[in-house]
Amino acid sequence: MAQKRIITGLDIGTTKICVIIAESSEDGLLEVIGIGTSPSLGLRKGVVVDIDQTVRSILDAAGKAERMAGVQIDTAFVGIAGAHINSINSHGVVAVTGPEKEIKESDIIRVVEAAQFINLPPDRHIIHVLPREFIVDGCRGIKDPLGMSGTRLEVETHIVTGLVTSVQNLVKSVQKAGINITEDHVVLEPLAASEAVLNDDERELGVVLIDIGGGTTDIAIFQEGNIAYTSVLPVGGDHVTYDIAYGLKCSHIKAEEIKIKKGCAIADMIPEDESVEVMAASGKKKYEIPRRYLCEIIEPRMHEIFSLVQKEIVKAGYEGLLPAGAVLTGGASLMEGNLELASEVLGLPTRLGTPENIHGLVDFLDEDLYRFQPDINNFNTAVFATAVGLLRYGANQIFYGENMEKENNLMENLFGRIRGWIKEFF
Ligand SMILES: Nc1ncnc2c1ncn2[C@@H]1O[C@H](COP(=O)(O)OP(=O)(O)OP(=O)(O)O)[C@@H](O)[C@H]1O
Ligand SMILES: [Mg+2]
Repeated sequence: MAQKRIITGLDIGTTKICVIIAESSEDGLLEVIGIGTSPSLGLRKGVVVDIDQTVRSILDAAGKAERMAGVQIDTAFVGIAGAHINSINSHGVVAVTGPEKEIKESDIIRVVEAAQFINLPPDRHIIHVLPREFIVDGCRGIKDPLGMSGTRLEVETHIVTGLVTSVQNLVKSVQKAGINITEDHVVLEPLAASEAVLNDDERELGVVLIDIGGGTTDIAIFQEGNIAYTSVLPVGGDHVTYDIAYGLKCSHIKAEEIKIKKGCAIADMIPEDESVEVMAASGKKKYEIPRRYLCEIIEPRMHEIFSLVQKEIVKAGYEGLLPAGAVLTGGASLMEGNLELASEVLGLPTRLGTPENIHGLVDFLDEDLYRFQPDINNFNTAVFATAVGLLRYGANQIFYGENMEKENNLMENLFGRIRGWIKEFF
């Protein structure tokens, strides 16, 4: 019988904290048994700015998920984002040791370590070192070199770094909420989201994942099955809400309501005679405006977001190289007209990414967070792509690490992670 483990994904977003607990079996099946959400009050643009508020929100969301699942959370995989995230591609090279010149774990660890010898300012922390391909004696495109013969081992890696203080504040907030984690449990959010919504064919062909949240828009580009570029932009759906509140002179909460119920990213899609009711900021006067006018406020901001993404694609050198197109996910991707606008600005076929291949019958209701969206009552929406992706990432790390331990009795944490990553993506 397949082994089972309890795994927790903790998505600390700018608008919501989401905790999902799942039972994972060795064969890759994930069964959600608990979910809890709470409004996020201690973050700005994806970064923890108030630890106490963040701890309170984590405790609230985790408590709800624990009660539903009937288990206590011990540890979790936690998402990280924010404009402080940087990524670079780096190369490592070593000579293969041992008389038989057979590539061993220790050679793989050494070459990945060699790729990490980059000029890094002291205020930056390495979050991920993701092997993209190995090269054995000049032969490229090797996914897993363990056991191969060769004298010279090289690796191309994608290295993701973040500000030491931002990583520490995130880890500290989670630890203060009683969840045992270290920096090793921190996962780049777009990487996690990609695990939930992209399929292998898309990764192989070339695809850009765009997670539009409240405070950030996260980007991950994949090609030939590898991660090629990641970036976090400090703009998201909350900026649309501010624009509406400012433009229509109404409260933030009313702007949020009208955005979710009536918003559209392309004003021309709205018939000229449709109108929407707006409550003035005083809360006393209601007035009607053409719905098109609302959408004329929204469109430039969404256009700006997709234009910034396009610039990132060009900067990364992947313009014209993404035949699988764009996949939108995150709460703000749900707006009507987004797929059409993204497709026009990026010049790519675009689809919505919703978590796939995950099961479980859980129903929840968060009246604070989702009062305008009663249909957000389960994990299978783009809003929870990051949280679900964290489960998938975590399951892979845990099972692979344990198998390594059993097989070799000399499980190296780093090696487990490298191999977990290789197994995941190739
Ligand atoms: N149906 C909808 N139409 C338009 N916007 C929506 C809809 N549903 C949610 N949003 C917006 O999505 C945003 C929240 O998305 P999400 O929950 O993915 O963010 P987050 O993960 O908390 O933030 P971040 O990832 O930026 O830190 C909010 O701005 C919200 O208004
Ligand atoms: Mg998010």
